[in-house]
Amino acid sequence: MPKVNYFSGETFPLEMHKVRIIQKLTLLPIEERLRAVEDSGYNTFLLQNQDVFLDMLTDSGVNAMSDRQQAAMLLADDAYAGSATFTRLHAKLTEIFGTKYFLPTHQGRAAEHILCRAFVTEGSIVPCNYHFTTWKAHVTAVGGSVVELLMPAGLEVTSTNPFKGNFDCQALTELVESVGAEKIPYVRMEAGTNLIGGQPFSLANLREVSQTCKKYGIKLILDASLLADNLHFIKNREPEYAQASIAQIALEMAQLCDITYFSARKLGFGRGGGIITNDEEIYKELRSFVPMYEGFLTYGGMSVREMEAITVGLDETLDEDMIDQGPQFISHIVKTLDEAGIPVITPPGGLGAHIDALRFLDHIPQNQYPAAALNSAYFIASGVRGMERGTMSEQREPDGTEPMADMELVRLAVPRRVFTLSQVNYAIDRLMWLYANRRIIGGLKWVEEPEVLRFFYGRLAPITPWQHELVAKFRADFDDSL
Ligand code: F0G
Repeated sequence: MPKVNYFSGETFPLEMHKVRIIQKLTLLPIEERLRAVEDSGYNTFLLQNQDVFLDMLTDSGVNAMSDRQQAAMLLADDAYAGSATFTRLHAKLTEIFGTKYFLPTHQGRAAEHILCRAFVTEGSIVPCNYHFTTWKAHVTAVGGSVVELLMPAGLEVTSTNPFKGNFDCQALTELVESVGAEKIPYVRMEAGTNLIGGQPFSLANLREVSQTCKKYGIKLILDASLLADNLHFIKNREPEYAQASIAQIALEMAQLCDITYFSARKLGFGRGGGIITNDEEIYKELRSFVPMYEGFLTYGGMSVREMEAITVGLDETLDEDMIDQGPQFISHIVKTLDEAGIPVITPPGGLGAHIDALRFLDHIPQNQYPAAALNSAYFIASGVRGMERGTMSEQREPDGTEPMADMELVRLAVPRRVFTLSQVNYAIDRLMWLYANRRIIGGLKWVEEPEVLRFFYGRLAPITPWQHELVAKFRADFDDSL
């Protein structure tokens, strides 16, 4: 995005695209928003989208497509085997990442499934900078365990550290020396580390991890789902790369890893996923899983139309004007909230703005799910749907004990190229109102708790009837406003 000096002295993001297709939104009155929250068991995953004003649940599969992507979709080549669409996507991945082989999957977690089925066994230990929910579920499903080796700064909610997603290589060396390299099937580096607030790692750090893995003969796997944001931050925060192009940075990153996988619901403004590598042996080892679980090798469960959109979307990911939009909007939200004294993860990351529910609701203990409570209260107050990223998103240990999350966050995702600045400012304003009234909000308890990935479809209820007091206060403050 270009630097514009505003006459007013203010700074705010400037969109480098225009809106040419729109979808009408509705903002329900607060009484109906409360009804929707109650119907959905205080779990925003269970809300009906028609009841939502701004959907900030996720950036997955809901990024806006460009005119070029829509046009490319018309050229899709329908074929079970050998589709020209696959060849085009494969060629684009090779051009950007310098990798020879591509295994398509229907989305990111399907790639995780294959990488865990192929490499992880009972007793395996898999280090990562930080876990992601779906990946951890796949590691543990085949008897492995996850070890997080994030640099300690990564878990400091408020920080000026530009690379909170950095991996602790010293800790990796110590782990390998103590358990032995044969117990570690691979190391996973996650770009734009999701669960700690979309925080990036530096290219210098990835190089160091790569060297350590090589020294011990351990594979390095990059989760590139949130690569676009990480590319933006390397260019803008790592002085050595200030003059490098986004394309140069992307290529260098992929070349440091043995395998890269991605959710194209995030990377490439489409819907799908895949695994890329330069290693023929790895390719052959993973190949049989694709027709078994996903689809034939030239579509892997993806629609050919989406594959065309991803091919163009990957090109747009190398365009600084395009990938800067998300991080700049997020930075605007984070800076405004921070200046208003609202606890938020700093520095701003990618993916979305992350509110620190532990400090926002410091009167609610972690076992009453402060992030889930804040998330529901926020929907009631605004019609904006965020996502709980705290203890509710953890899973119980096999003995039934419940680990408390390192952070209790409400994530307000900013799907790429979707919202306008006035919508984002509305989301900020309602959060400010909620902060002024935060003492009204109380805790939640489970009504229905599934064993696996409970946050997706579990149901909760307020421990005390705080929700009615919240609605009454809103009505007193806003009279007849929505
Ligand atoms: N890795 C990362 C870093 C992710 O953020 C996600 C998905 C996946 C893998 C799995 O990809 O959804 O295509 O199967 N994150 C979504 C989110 C669910 O809302 O953050 P998928």
